Amino acid sequence: MTAALITAIPDPQVAFEDLYQVPPVENITDTPDEIRHKQARVRQLAQQRNAILLAHHYQRPEVQEVADIVADSLKLSQAAAKTNSDVIVMCGVHFMAETASILCPSKTVLLPDVKAGCSLAASISVESLRAWKAKFPDAVVVSYINTSAAVKAESDYCCTSANAAKIVSSIPADRPILFAPDKFLASVVARQLKRSNIIAYPGYCHVHKTIEPEQVVELLDQHPDAELLLHPECGCVSSCMAKAADGSLPADRTFFLSTEGMLRHIAQSTAAEFAIGTELGILHQLRSKFPDKTFYPVNPNAVCAFMKTITLDKVIRALQTMSPQVRVPEETARRARVAIDRMLELS
Ligand code: 13P
Ligand code: SF4
Repeated sequence: MTAALITAIPDPQVAFEDLYQVPPVENITDTPDEIRHKQARVRQLAQQRNAILLAHHYQRPEVQEVADIVADSLKLSQAAAKTNSDVIVMCGVHFMAETASILCPSKTVLLPDVKAGCSLAASISVESLRAWKAKFPDAVVVSYINTSAAVKAESDYCCTSANAAKIVSSIPADRPILFAPDKFLASVVARQLKRSNIIAYPGYCHVHKTIEPEQVVELLDQHPDAELLLHPECGCVSSCMAKAADGSLPADRTFFLSTEGMLRHIAQSTAAEFAIGTELGILHQLRSKFPDKTFYPVNPNAVCAFMKTITLDKVIRALQTMSPQVRVPEETARRARVAIDRMLELS
């Protein structure tokens, strides 16, 4: 089976962990009544500001419940691109707010907490990408949506976990591809497409990396009838693809899916139980949409502290003060938009 080639980061002295700071996760002690009251206040302010609230599946349950749309990175960018609202409140992380700003330069984009970063996006800077490109001048650059606007501006295509294979397969087979920054997603795409000229940047998400093959094996031993749904950012994907190929995991019950892909898959599956390998926030959507099915997290500690920085109080404050705003400089946005538009046209 084909695996992506992984190259060293341009500056091996810098550890990815030095490039970001994980914020503390605030413990919210609101009563159900207080939550309902705050949610009503959010809706009232959103109406006054003509704002749309977009939330990622990893958001806190009370934030997901108050949003207009809860979705994966692809659907959030599509929703931003077509909204008529004046204001977009991004209940997600910084690169998602930047993507919305690139697609809607005339709108106000609010990110309720500026600490809502992303370890994966932090793993590649525009300088690292330029240095990497200089080593492979003939390559086409495909950047995951989990990157800064500046990195997207240096890329030929953007992709998400929902469409990475489709985007890569649209590129002529003889062109080498620099795939940044997620090495695990790169390996899934390389194996799915049997393509040997995908060169992967060695970045990863610090949350998904902790979802390990041993946890998968143990959980499926306990629940042998469960279908296994893994996000392609997980640290276990290479091992699980190999196990599915040699029969030690059930190939017909192992799937690599984006968060939205998991929801779509479960809606049409006859299985009653699912082992879920991704950030825990998605369990709120899964359990509310499919109350008759049972979900087991592969790693019950897989929490993204960046996503959890967004709280109802901060959404209220953002709508009251119209800050913090995220705006991408015009020239960067113009160049980044080329890569994002190519992705949206192919999606
Ligand atoms: P998707 O929701 O696009 O699958 O991405 C997961 C993610 O890590 C977002 O930060
Ligand atoms: Fe970034 Fe990982 Fe959090 Fe997603 S889960 S926002 S990739 S740190």
